[in-house]
Amino acid sequence: MTEGYELMSEANPLNLSAMLNNALVLGIESSCDETGVALVQLQGPETPVLLSQALHSQIEMHQAYGGVVPELASRDHIRRVLPLGAQVLAQAGRTLAEVDVVAFTRGPGLAGALLVGAGVACALGAALGKPVLGVHHLEGHLLSPFLSADPPNFPFVALLVSGGHTQLMRVEGVGRYTLLGETIDDAAGEAFDKSAKLLGLGYPGGPALSRLAEGGNPAAFKLPRPLLNQPNLDFSFAGLKTAVMVQAKRLAVEHAGTVVELPLQVRADLAASTEAAIVDVLVKKSLAALAQSGLGRLVVAGGVGANRHLRQQLNQACQRRGVRVHYPELHLCTDNGAMIAMAAAMRLQSGVQTASRIYAFDVRPRWPLDAL
Ligand code: KG4
Ligand code: ZN
Repeated sequence: MTEGYELMSEANPLNLSAMLNNALVLGIESSCDETGVALVQLQGPETPVLLSQALHSQIEMHQAYGGVVPELASRDHIRRVLPLGAQVLAQAGRTLAEVDVVAFTRGPGLAGALLVGAGVACALGAALGKPVLGVHHLEGHLLSPFLSADPPNFPFVALLVSGGHTQLMRVEGVGRYTLLGETIDDAAGEAFDKSAKLLGLGYPGGPALSRLAEGGNPAAFKLPRPLLNQPNLDFSFAGLKTAVMVQAKRLAVEHAGTVVELPLQVRADLAASTEAAIVDVLVKKSLAALAQSGLGRLVVAGGVGANRHLRQQLNQACQRRGVRVHYPELHLCTDNGAMIAMAAAMRLQSGVQTASRIYAFDVRPRWPLDAL
């Protein structure tokens, strides 16, 4: 009976305020194909600081299958999470007993993978008698620029571009998020991944397509930029993937071979044109969101935020308009434990959430960010 572990009720949450000044938060990320653990410390009213972090990427394991195999992902998280936790504590010169709060990614993500992080976090919390806190994965991405040397100030517009989500949010403060627009079908990351697959590139497709695109001509192929001229802030990338497929098939017939056998330059041109179409839409919609909201600050987060071309285009466009752009450190764009520990620390600090000693956890594979 899980409730048997309950040391206090939700109605009587742990009073953290006394220890909030320098509380240690251990964060666990396991929503997809990276196991991440990190230790963040609160600093009174200042931005919490990252003490240490460790990450294990499953990319190599999933590469053989051309994409993430959920069952294998869960099994690997089980193998990695506790050793990574020990590594993080050792790096920071801390012990498990010193941890004040254990945070974990509660969703969205793969159910089995999420359950590993949630289960381990709650077991640690129950064993230590320490409270736990479930974090929204996208909030982790959203707040990840606060881990950088140049953190943003609130309010700002956030462009969230991960493997499964493409959203523009108005962010007033921690936990105060309004959805301005989102994709009505595929995410930008999905458009990168699926187009890369069509070009015979490995998983994850985003970085691979981007590398191939470096030697290509972005104007070589005319590809659609869906919803670009609509006044709303929604995205649609499914048509782009189809257009890339049609072009790839036509070129293969023209060169009497398969797509993979196409001359390198032709593949590079198609990759560059695809990347340009995705980036063009992301940049123009972000600018529209800034104009509509009247805000002068943009935060870009999520795996696609690592894209060099996107950063270049956004930097140029924002500089012209006097808009400040903030990104997470490059290595913190994709999934990691630091962003989860940081989001938990900032939620505690701002008082929007308390950690709880109820260890009857659940996960939320589907979970809209603006429902927080
Ligand atoms: O945020 P993330 O690590 O995981 C999710 O929460 O989904 O994002 C992964 C996505 C994948 O679609 C991957 O192809 C894409 O981010 N990605 C990139 C780049 N690095 C990662 N897309 C374009 N260019 C990159 N450099
Ligand atoms: Zn992510």
